[in-house]
Amino acid sequence: MATRRHEEQLDETLGARLFATRALTLALAEPLSDADATIQPNPDASPAKWHLAHTTWFFETFVLRDHVPGYEVRDERFAFLFNSYYEGEGERHARARRGMISRPSLNEIRVWRAAVDEALAAAFPMLPQVALTLVALGIEHEQQHQELLLTDILATFAENPTEPVYAPSSPPLTFPSEPMRFLPGREGLVEIGASAGFAFDCEGPRHRALLHPHAIANRCVTNAEYAEFAEDGGYDEAGLWLSEGWEWRQREGVTAPLYWRGEKAYSLAGRIPRNPAAPVAHISYYEADAFARWAGKRLPTEFEWEDFYRAADPSEGHQLDEAAAVMPQPGGGPFGDVWQWTQSAYLPYPGFVPEQGTVGEYNGKFMCGQFVLKGASCATPRGHSRATYRNFFPAAARWQFTGVRLAQDA
Ligand SMILES: [Fe+2]
Repeated sequence: MATRRHEEQLDETLGARLFATRALTLALAEPLSDADATIQPNPDASPAKWHLAHTTWFFETFVLRDHVPGYEVRDERFAFLFNSYYEGEGERHARARRGMISRPSLNEIRVWRAAVDEALAAAFPMLPQVALTLVALGIEHEQQHQELLLTDILATFAENPTEPVYAPSSPPLTFPSEPMRFLPGREGLVEIGASAGFAFDCEGPRHRALLHPHAIANRCVTNAEYAEFAEDGGYDEAGLWLSEGWEWRQREGVTAPLYWRGEKAYSLAGRIPRNPAAPVAHISYYEADAFARWAGKRLPTEFEWEDFYRAADPSEGHQLDEAAAVMPQPGGGPFGDVWQWTQSAYLPYPGFVPEQGTVGEYNGKFMCGQFVLKGASCATPRGHSRATYRNFFPAAARWQFTGVRLAQDA
């Protein structure tokens, strides 16, 4: 009986999280016009309307269609338009052409969302455990798209010479940066990867990794420090760059982080003064790596970063001096937090097995040519990230809130 009640409570929590997540996505899109939500600024970013539709397609397909007897999808054509990359779900629209989908309209997508939410609410009490697991995955999936929605709106508005404001500026940032210090990490064999609670498949299995003597910076690199690198000719010194990075920097004509505009920066609040103490954001792996070389340091490995974070968590049974005070809290900390590039290639952990079925395509098939980022950003929904979280992007990507924390050999 107690177990049954416990299960019911879990279901209630899951249901509450599901509908709160769905509502937040709508709220994030609220300031957008149909045109704002339809533009695709580059092939990496997706239109806001597409994010609203794709996250709905995910629930309609993997939960309602597959687990609710008699459910009929709203429009058979939507699968072609709003499937992202699931080969198991058939043919789909070309990613780079998502901005051409002027119809269905933003409002039609909102109506579809509401219908799917209603069907989810009606079906929820009868959903089998396997479907509830997919609901949990769908929530995490939609949270990932909430962050992408914001970064893609930023990329969309950045294309507009009038520099639109998505949301008015929050109060001026005043947090001063402490002097950068290097705190010793642990060495030897450590446990890496998720063991309990929700985690994406790529976060496990938990396994051992060998850490060599090293130290990690107490904070991320700031705009002021990054400006020193730029002013010192960092972008013109080939010797600081990886060969591929130098070629990228030359080809793209890159001379600063993506949204720097002189002494200011373009943001979701429009063009604002650049805060020298805030973490530098919107830099590629190549830029993070070149900065580290200029500073005489290096990027941390994903294992150094994760163990340093975990060492700060008393529930893990050990505590490193000072680590607790300096690592970001799961789910993002103060505004300005950034995802942190690591030098680790995004690869399967020992014993990794993708999930059964089409959702097995979620992470595993992207394990080639990308780097792991740790932490969270100012756009990451609260509670979404954790120590074991492995975000990943190709080395040239910088439209996300990406920054750098330095490390060094000890
Ligand atoms: Fe997706």
